This record gives sequence, C-alpha cells and structure tokens, in this order.
Amino acid sequence: MSKAVAVLALGVWSVCGSLSIDAKSAKPQAQQAASIHYDEAHRVFRIDAGKITYAFGVNGDGALQTLYWGSRLAQDDPVGPAVPPKSWSSFDSIGANTPQEYAGWGGPITVMPDLKLHFADGNRDLILRYDSYKIDKDGLHISLRDAKANVTVGLRYTVDGDTGIVGRSARIENHATQALTIDSAAAASWNLPPATDYSLRYLTGTWASEWHVRTRQVTPGATVLESRRGSTGDENNPWFAIERGGAWNESHGRVWFGALAWSGSWSIRIDQDVLNQVRVTGGYNPFDFSYRLKPGEALDTPVFYAGYTDAGIGEASRLMHQFETTRVLPQAPRPKLRPVLYNSWEATEFKVNEPEQERLAEKAAKLGVERFVIDDGWFGARNSDHAGLGDWTVNREKFPNGLKPLIDKVHGLGMSFGIWVEPEMVNPDSDLYRKHPDWVLNFEGRQRTEGRNQLVLNLARDDVRDYVFDALDQLLSKNDIQFLKWDYNRNWTEPGWPQLSPEEQQKVYVVYVQHLYDILRRLRERHPGVEIESCSGGGARVDLGIMGLTDEVWPSDNTDPSDRLSIQDGFSYAYAPAVMMSWVTGSPNWVNERQSSLDFRFLSSMQGGLGIGAKILEWTSAEDATAQHYIAAYKDIRATVQQGRLYRLLSPQERAPYSATESVAADGAQAVLFAFLRQGQEAQAYPTLYLQGLDPNARYRYRSIHGEAMPGTPAVASGAYWMSHGIDLKLRSDLDAAGLVFERVGS
Ligand code: GLA
Repeated sequence: MSKAVAVLALGVWSVCGSLSIDAKSAKPQAQQAASIHYDEAHRVFRIDAGKITYAFGVNGDGALQTLYWGSRLAQDDPVGPAVPPKSWSSFDSIGANTPQEYAGWGGPITVMPDLKLHFADGNRDLILRYDSYKIDKDGLHISLRDAKANVTVGLRYTVDGDTGIVGRSARIENHATQALTIDSAAAASWNLPPATDYSLRYLTGTWASEWHVRTRQVTPGATVLESRRGSTGDENNPWFAIERGGAWNESHGRVWFGALAWSGSWSIRIDQDVLNQVRVTGGYNPFDFSYRLKPGEALDTPVFYAGYTDAGIGEASRLMHQFETTRVLPQAPRPKLRPVLYNSWEATEFKVNEPEQERLAEKAAKLGVERFVIDDGWFGARNSDHAGLGDWTVNREKFPNGLKPLIDKVHGLGMSFGIWVEPEMVNPDSDLYRKHPDWVLNFEGRQRTEGRNQLVLNLARDDVRDYVFDALDQLLSKNDIQFLKWDYNRNWTEPGWPQLSPEEQQKVYVVYVQHLYDILRRLRERHPGVEIESCSGGGARVDLGIMGLTDEVWPSDNTDPSDRLSIQDGFSYAYAPAVMMSWVTGSPNWVNERQSSLDFRFLSSMQGGLGIGAKILEWTSAEDATAQHYIAAYKDIRATVQQGRLYRLLSPQERAPYSATESVAADGAQAVLFAFLRQGQEAQAYPTLYLQGLDPNARYRYRSIHGEAMPGTPAVASGAYWMSHGIDLKLRSDLDAAGLVFERVGS
C-alpha cells in the first residue's frame, strides 16, 4: 500500500470544514466520507468522496496528469504513477496529448489548453509544471508554475463527501515584471478514460421553449456548448452529461456529468483527440475574451463542478439535486421550502394598481397562497416595456400612497410580499438614461441595439454597481419586502466599455458578473430575510453561480401545462425541483391557445414550487374550490416534491404522449407520483408505472389527489409490489392527469 503523507477525511466537507471531523466522528456511512491523499512515493493525488475516486499524478515531465475518475476504488488499489501516453509519430510528439489536469498553451501541446496567454513582448509560450500542494479544510490546493515566464496557476479542488461532486477552479497570477494578457482561461479540464462509444447529453432551447434534452455521439473533434451572450443564456445551459455505450438508461450506465458556476459568457468544450481521449474543458468563453494582468495581478476562474455515477442518468440528476440543495443554495444545507405564491403578471401585466392588487391578494389568500408577488409595472413611468426601467421609485399614479398600504394588506392576510425588479437594464426613455447615457454597454459612436426597448447597464463600472445596489437597498429598507423576482430580459450587444483603455475593455465579461454577484451577496447580508428568484425572460439565467445567491429560478415564460412537462423534465436533468417555480395560469394558454383543465394545470405545476399566475378574480366558486383542494394537497407533499429524490418514470421529451415522475421523501415515508397523458392513444392502456426508491419490505398505502388507479389495485401493498408489479392508471383522454401519494404505514 502506498504511503499517504497527507490525509484529510471529512464527513460533511463544507459544513464541518474542520480537520477534527473525520469519517468516524461525523458518523457518515463509510462511502460518504471524503478524503484527500498525497502519495509521495508515486507523486499521486487521490480524492475519495461519496461513491467516487478521482486521481491524478505528477508525470516525468512535471505535468499534472489525470489518472482515474470513476467508481470508488479500494484504499490499497494502485493508481499511477503518471506516464504520458505513447506517441507514434512526429506529428504527435511526447507530451502533445497528455491528459493534463490544467494545461498551458506552450511546448508540444496539441490538446485544447486550459490557459492561453501572451506577454507584452509577444512571447506566448506557457508550460505549467507542478510546484507544490496544500491540503486544508477547503480542499486540495496545487500550485503550477512556469518558472521562466513567472506565472503561477493555483488549482483548487473542493470535495463533497455525500455526492462525490468535485469542484475545480484556477487562479492565474502574474509574477513577471511585464503585463500579460489572458486570451482564454478555463476553470478545469475533466479527462475521461479513452473510448470511442461516448455519447453527450446537453440542454438547449430558446425563449418560451427552454430545456430541450439533446443527445449526440462524441466523435473525433470538438463539440462546443456555450453562451456568447454575456449571460448564461438558454441556447445551451452550462451542464453536460457523458455516458459510455450510448444506452442512456435512467438507472444503469456510467455517467460523467458536470456544471459550471458562472452567469456570464461561458463555454464547455468536449474534445475527442487522436488517441480517443475525451476531455471536457469549461470556463470563460474564449470568444472575444481578453483579460490583462499587470505585474502582481490575478484572475480567478469560475468553479466547474463534476461528478460520476455508474447508476445511470437518473442518479446523475439526483446527485446534482442533492448537491445544489445541500451545498450550493444560500440556505444550504437545509433550504426553506418554497411557499405557494401568486404572481400578478399574466393577470394584469403592466396595469398594476393598488385596489386591484389588493383584490387579487384577498382572493389569493382565500385560496391558500402564502406569498403575493407584484410583477412589472409598479415603478417609474412603466406603463409598457417602452419606458421606466432604471427608475426604481414607486409610480404614484398607480400607488398614490406608496407600496405600504398594499404590503400591509398582504401581510395582514398572512402572506409574505414580493416584488419584480430588472436592475441591470435601462429604457432609453427613463430618467436614469437621460442623466447617464454613458452607463450602458456600448462602442463609442456606434449604434446601441435595443432588445425589448432596453439597453444593458454596464454593471462592471463601479458607479453603476453602486447605483444598482443603492436602489435595491433603498427599496428593501423602505418597504417590508420578503422576496425579489430579479429579471434580466435581453442579451448583450456592442459590449464596449469606452471609459477604459482598449486593452482593458474586455474585462467586462468578468467584472460585470463579479459585480452582479457582489450586489446579490451584499443585499442578502443587509436583508437576510429577503429571498430572491433568478428570472431571465424565463430560464435564461440558471446556473450554479447564480444559484449560490438566489433561492429559486423561473424556468420558462411558457406556462402551458403540457409544454411545461418537457420544460420541467429537461430542467430536472441538471437542476433541483427545490428551486423550480411553476405557475398555474389561464386556459386557453397565451403561448399556444391550448385549453386544459384546472386539474391538469395544477398537477403539472405541482412538480416544482407551486405558484398561481391566473386571473383568479374571474374564477368561479367551483374553480376556487378546485384550487383550494390542490393547494392544500400540495402543502402536504411539497417537502417530498421539492427536496426528495426524483425519479423520471416516463419521458415527455420529443413531444411524447406520456410523462410520469415520482418523488420519494428523504426519510422514505412518502412518495408522490404524477402521471400525464398529453394525447389519448386510441383504446390503449396507459403504460404500467413501476415505482422506484421505496423500501421493498415496508408497506405503503396510496391515496389519490386526482385520478384513479385501475380496479383491483390494492390500497396497501409492499414497496416490492409497487416497484415490481407497478401500478396501472385510468388515463385515457387528451390532457388527462393523475397525482397519487404513497404513505409508508407502520414503522
Ligand atoms: C419577463 C418575465 C415575466 C415577466 C415579464 C415582466 O418576461 O419572464 O415573468 O416578469 O418579464 O415584464
């Protein structure tokens, strides 16, 4: 057995964060401990966490080379030493294809580098060699150095002992006497074992049609997932999953997966090289990137998180959900459950005013709503999307006495109060723009392209950052507000920063997002009772970076309950139902004129954080009663739905007729089954549903929220029965749905 010269064993890494907490005293299951070893004899670093082992070593060239990433190995299994792959031709010299942990562009390298830079004197050669390491409560820190160039890269590895998810980031420092410019900087590269049968899953979409799941073969060459839009975007989401063999089973198969914690332009690039080595490199998008470092300056990359499972894509998603809930969210490890909310947007649009909002609040409270949110239109001269953004003062025509009467009313009705803001934007028709036309992203003397009649404030500027922080701080200080819906409704164009020298301007890609995070962080500190939702015209800003500073996200403006099944399914590949808001709105739906029953709409929205966005003042007493039934039923199951283990039983992707999910409570005492039929299939039966994740020896009684099982279904049966025999549901007609709850009986 190799000698471990440095060991850190932590049960609950980021929470305990102390050397004195080891696997035994924290009492996690053996598999859940995290440890980091350095084997000096073989120069191998090894991370064991959850059900994974991750190892890399220092090879003969001094480069850091990935050795293993997969299921957990026995402690005395040998990994390493690191030997660069053999090369057979002069075109691929030794070292050119080494699966490096973090490669600089220089020397013989032909694989995609993690870091490319140039010095003021034109030198572009960078060869990063291992220098030193440190293991502390935050994880593993490695220093790489190009001694001649005088550049260091500090690699940081954080480890979650429960999920085996490893976080990696880099800090690039210029110790030279001349400035250097970074042309591209990744957070990390993840090297997979060489193979030719990998397949990639990723997410793609557009406004009102986000979260489509796509699959493609990994072949020689590159696949790039990215956003060049300045923010996360919905064209691709910064998440990937790669499966070996292409079978993509929910509960079987080796899956490597990961997500980038960054809300600006990003890229995740999947390369298969000439030796069939597959490498996933993620970080700042190299497109239009340039970041100048003067002597003594440093740049930190975002964190690229990744995990592995041999139990299929379903388990990969559950590990992500658990990681987000227990490690990423601001309220981790035990985030509050999402309250049932009402939002006025689809009911009133910009025509908000005090009496009508009060009537809506009264009705919402009667239905069982817990949070009342007033959307766009309450501020400045905001009567449409043509004016007012930037002027965060209450519109006195709509609210003559300010927001206080409405807020008091909402609180009096027992609900918390929330409000919509879009702080990073400005309408040219606003007092703010008239005063500060130079505050927007722009190139001197060029057009300023508008999107939804608005321009993007250059949050990278200190004065703009301070204005935005102060405006929101004032709003929250003067009003008793519990929730902000933080919107962001366009992409960047003409991303110039004319006040800086030309070689500094592209820093905007980094500094803008750093300032956004800084504002959110400071607001949370100053107003700890306030929760925040990340919305970007729907789901265009959902990533692990924004999730660390917000409590929930809005996946899509598309509220059609049938479309929403695919949207929510796609979302669930990467992100937890704990943050996924979903509203019940009107029928026919504004997106596609589709008509659906209130039952179908509620059951679809109950898959995440339930909200209502309908014209509830027009609801009949029968509709009120239906809503009351579902809201009460939801409160009973929401802990399971939001924070339980999600099993995707039938996939609605590719407009499939069926969709079914099951959520199992953390303590196993409850399971919730939702089943949907988008379109009746002649006289065919609905597919038998096999439950998952139950205790086979326990007994579970089922009850219906809506819909029926086929005659003969027992009221009580073992977990084994529900998982092996399954359950048949009476679902036949178009847009039919069922919601069933299974409760464990006895102990
Ligand atoms: C965006 C959001 C909507 C709504 C409008 C208001 O489109 O996604 O939910 O808040 O802005 O203008």
